Amino acid sequence: MSAKKKRTVLVTGAAGFIGFHVAKELLNRGYRVVGYDAVTSYYDVRLKKRRLAMLGKFSAFHFVKASVASYPALKRVMKAEHPDEIVHLAAQAGVRYSLVNPWIYADTNYLGTLNIFEIARQFRLPRVVYASSSSVYGANSKQPFQESDRTDLPVSIYGATKRGNEILARAYHHLFKTEMIGLRFFTVYGPWGRPDMALFKFARRILQDRPIELYNRGNMKRSFTYIDDIVRGVVSTIERAPKGRCEIYNLGGSETVPLKHFVGLIEKQFGKRAKKILKALQAGDVPETVADCSKARRELGFRPQVSIEEGIARFAKWFLEHRDFLADLKEPKQ
Ligand SMILES: NC(=O)c1ccc[n+]([C@@H]2O[C@H](COP(=O)([O-])OP(=O)(O)OC[C@H]3O[C@@H](n4cnc5c(N)ncnc54)[C@H](O)[C@@H]3O)[C@@H](O)[C@H]2O)c1
Repeated sequence: MSAKKKRTVLVTGAAGFIGFHVAKELLNRGYRVVGYDAVTSYYDVRLKKRRLAMLGKFSAFHFVKASVASYPALKRVMKAEHPDEIVHLAAQAGVRYSLVNPWIYADTNYLGTLNIFEIARQFRLPRVVYASSSSVYGANSKQPFQESDRTDLPVSIYGATKRGNEILARAYHHLFKTEMIGLRFFTVYGPWGRPDMALFKFARRILQDRPIELYNRGNMKRSFTYIDDIVRGVVSTIERAPKGRCEIYNLGGSETVPLKHFVGLIEKQFGKRAKKILKALQAGDVPETVADCSKARRELGFRPQVSIEEGIARFAKWFLEHRDFLADLKEPKQ
C-alpha cells in the first residue's frame, strides 16, 4: 500500500447512500475515513444506522454525528482529525421535498456547503470534491446534457441550491485557489439505496401488491447510474482529477432508459406485474435527464460498466435478501 493511500478523507454524508459506498471503497483501498453526517430523519434512520454499522467494522473508520450547518462542529473535527481532503456528499436531497420544506435545503445545501468550502480554506486543504446533481440542468431542453449547457433555468429549489454550490465553488477557487471539483450525479441506484427514490419505492410496492405511480404518464427517461460506477467516478476524481482547477463533471450511466423499460426489468426480477397509476409530471421534475459523460471519460477515465439489466438484478437480489427489514422502514418524507 502506498503512502498516498493512507491519506485521511473526510466524507460528509457518510451515513447516506452514496457516502456509505464511497467511504467503504476508500476504506477497502487503504484510506483512513472520517465520516461526518447529521443522520437526519428525511428517510428512516434505521437504514442510515445499518450503513454506519457496516462502516464501523473498519478500524480506519471514525464517525462524527454533526451537521455541516454547524461551523464550530466542523472546526472541531478538522482540528481533531486533520483530514487531507474533503469529499462533500452531505445534502438535503430530493426534488419533491424541496417544495415542502425549502428551509432545510438552505441550511444544509447553501450554508452547509459554504461551511465546507470555508473550512477547507481556513485549514489550507488544496481541494474539495463535492456532489452536484443533474437537477442543475432544469429546463434546459438540449439533450444529452453537457457541462457547458445552460444551468440558469432551475425547475426545483433543490436544483437551485445545487447550482448555487457550483457558483460558490467558482468564487472560492477564484479567491483562494482551492481546487474545486463538482460531480453532477445522474439518478443513482443500487443496494442500500434511498427509500424516497423510484426504484426502492417501486420494489417495495410491487412486493406488497400496492400500485406504483408513474409520473408524466410513464414517459420519462433517465441516465440511471449504478452505484458502483458512481463510486469509481468519485475515486477516480480523488486519484486523478487535474490539479489546481475548478471543474464540473457529469457522472451518469451509459444508457438512457425509458421509465417503462425500467419498471419492466423490476417486474421481471420479482416475477410480478406492477399495478400502475399514470400521473401528470410533478412540479420540480424533468421528463428527461440524459448525461453526456465525455468530459469525465477524457479527464477522469470514467466508464460506466454496469448495464441497467445487471444493476436492477443486483438491486433486486439485495432487496429480497433484506426484504423484512426494508418492508418495515417508515415511508420517506416527500
Ligand atoms: N442519489 C442520487 O441519485 C443523487 C443524484 C444527484 C445528486 N445526488 C447528491 O449526492 C449526494 C449524496 O446523495 P445520496 O443519494 O447519498 O443521499 P442521502 O440522503 O442518502 O445522503 C445524504 C446524507 O447527508 C446527511 N445530511 C443531511 N443533512 C445534513 C446536515 N445538515 N449535516 C450533515 N449531514 C447531513 C443525511 O443524513 C444523509 O445521510 C447529495 O449531495 C445529493 O444531493 C444524489
